[in-house]
Amino acid sequence: MSTVLVLNGPNLGRLGSREPDVYGSANLVDLRELLVASAREGVSIDLRQTDDEAELIHWLYEAVDERMPVILNPAAFTHYSYALRDAASLVTKAGLLLIEVHISNPHARETFRHTSVVSAIATGVIAGLGFDSYRLALDFVTAP
Ligand code: DQA
Repeated sequence: MSTVLVLNGPNLGRLGSREPDVYGSANLVDLRELLVASAREGVSIDLRQTDDEAELIHWLYEAVDERMPVILNPAAFTHYSYALRDAASLVTKAGLLLIEVHISNPHARETFRHTSVVSAIATGVIAGLGFDSYRLALDFVTAP
C-alpha cells in the first residue's frame, strides 16, 4: 500500500461554508471521499488540514522521511511563505513528486494571489478546476 499525503493550508478547514461562490459548497470530508473513490488500487489517501505553518512544514519533513508524494494546497501561504517553500523544496529535491493545487484560479483573482512562492520548486501546478485539481494531481502522482 502506498500513501499520498494531501496537505491543506489555512482556512481550508472551512470549505463548505467559506466563500461558496469561489470554492463551492463541498467540504474536506467530501474531498477525502472523492479522492479515496478515485484512487488506484493499493493507494491510500492521508488528507490533512492545518492553519499552522509549522505543522504544515513538519508534515513536509514527514513526506521526505517516509518517501511519500505530496499534493499540497498551501492556501494563503502560497503567496508569501518562504519557510513553506523551503520545506516543499526538500520534498522535490529528495526526488519525490509534489503537486501544488488550488481549487480556484488564483490568477483570475486579486493581484496578491498572482504570485506563488511555491510553484518554482513544485513538480507541477494544477489550479482552477475545483476538487478536480486534486483528483488530477492524484492521478499523476500515482501513475504506474
Ligand atoms: C486557494 C487560493 C488561495 O489564494 C487562497 O488563499 C486559498 C485557497 C485555492 O485553493 O483556490 O485559501 O489556495
